Amino acid sequence: MTVTLNDSAFLQACRGQRPAHTPVWFMRQAGRSLPEYLALREGTAMLESCFRTDMVVEITMQPVRRYGVDAAIFFSDIVVPLKAIGVDLDIVPGTGPVVAEPVRSWAQLDQFRDIDADDVTPITDAVKALVGELGSTPLIGFAGAPFTLASYLVEGGPSRDHRLTKQLMYSDPQLWHALLGRIAAIAGQFLRLQVEAGASAVQLFDSWAGALSLADYDTYVKPHSAAVLASVADLGVPRIHFGVGTGELLHSMGDAGADVVGVDWRVPLDEAVRRVGPGRAVQGNLDPTAVFAPTEFVHARAAEVLEAGRSAEGHIFNLGHGVLPATDPDALARLVDFVHEYDVS
Ligand code: CP3
Repeated sequence: MTVTLNDSAFLQACRGQRPAHTPVWFMRQAGRSLPEYLALREGTAMLESCFRTDMVVEITMQPVRRYGVDAAIFFSDIVVPLKAIGVDLDIVPGTGPVVAEPVRSWAQLDQFRDIDADDVTPITDAVKALVGELGSTPLIGFAGAPFTLASYLVEGGPSRDHRLTKQLMYSDPQLWHALLGRIAAIAGQFLRLQVEAGASAVQLFDSWAGALSLADYDTYVKPHSAAVLASVADLGVPRIHFGVGTGELLHSMGDAGADVVGVDWRVPLDEAVRRVGPGRAVQGNLDPTAVFAPTEFVHARAAEVLEAGRSAEGHIFNLGHGVLPATDPDALARLVDFVHEYDVS
């Protein structure tokens, strides 16, 4: 029997069904853990590579060919839509996104204009080419969530405590909500463009939302993430919502309008299922450092995740955060085989 895209294990699990095997993919499955990625990126800056259709297609395909994962994630970065509308920023190797002029005033909001389809033609072209090449393997489009993007914009770069971001949030809520409203519109447009070009699902990355209490998340962030997720609701593709250290936020992040809630490794998956509540699938949650241990240990931990996932309405196996650059690709290949062969019927 040939599997169609719509019957793929990944999309079935997103819809709360139980496919023949548990689908698996890895956040950051493309990237520095792969020698073929490092070879291709030689001499090309990160952001430049995100606007080169041929490179985006090839880098996205690399882990799919190598591992036989159940989904591809579009190769890009959360700051790409901001770069596309002209925000002055770069991705500095070993550091992450760095913004030339940190955003802290009303006057700076004008630069956050709507995305034009023309701003991202190389990107939508890459989505179209990938959908053809991937066949029955779904492509996940993604965007950064308003809080995580705002953190880079307000701090000017990566931050441990998000102090300046929270200072703005607490001291000038009007400006905060205006800024997040603009970023949410842009993130929503970026997701929409990817789905219209053929992506089968979307993931909203709120990587740093775990820095917030539930009360602050609900007041200052959730309405904006909900707006992003709502902006693609009519397109009918599954929406995954993920953050790190979000054990206390899992229910609220689902309630923001997600079909699938991504879970990091700190909360056992069956407990995460309870916190998320009925009507949504979960994705996760093996500790990304576990794959550095002997194979027997990795398999034992993966089995615990798969067993805990039985209580979910749909379970997509993943790591609890992105693949670390030092990861041995062969360890991930063995893990994919283990998940595919594990009987959860
Ligand atoms: O395979 C995939 O998952 C798709 C690719 C992807 C990248 N960035 C490529 C990338 C995805 C989904 C992202 C999202 C992203 N970018 C997030 C959310 C996901 C998460 O990990 O929490 C965040 C917070 C960023 C911001 C960012 N961009 C960081 C923190 C870094 C790493 C900086 C460093 O050098 O350590 C980047 C750069 C980046 N984005 C790289 C890749 C492959 C490394 C750049 C390189 O290869 O030179």
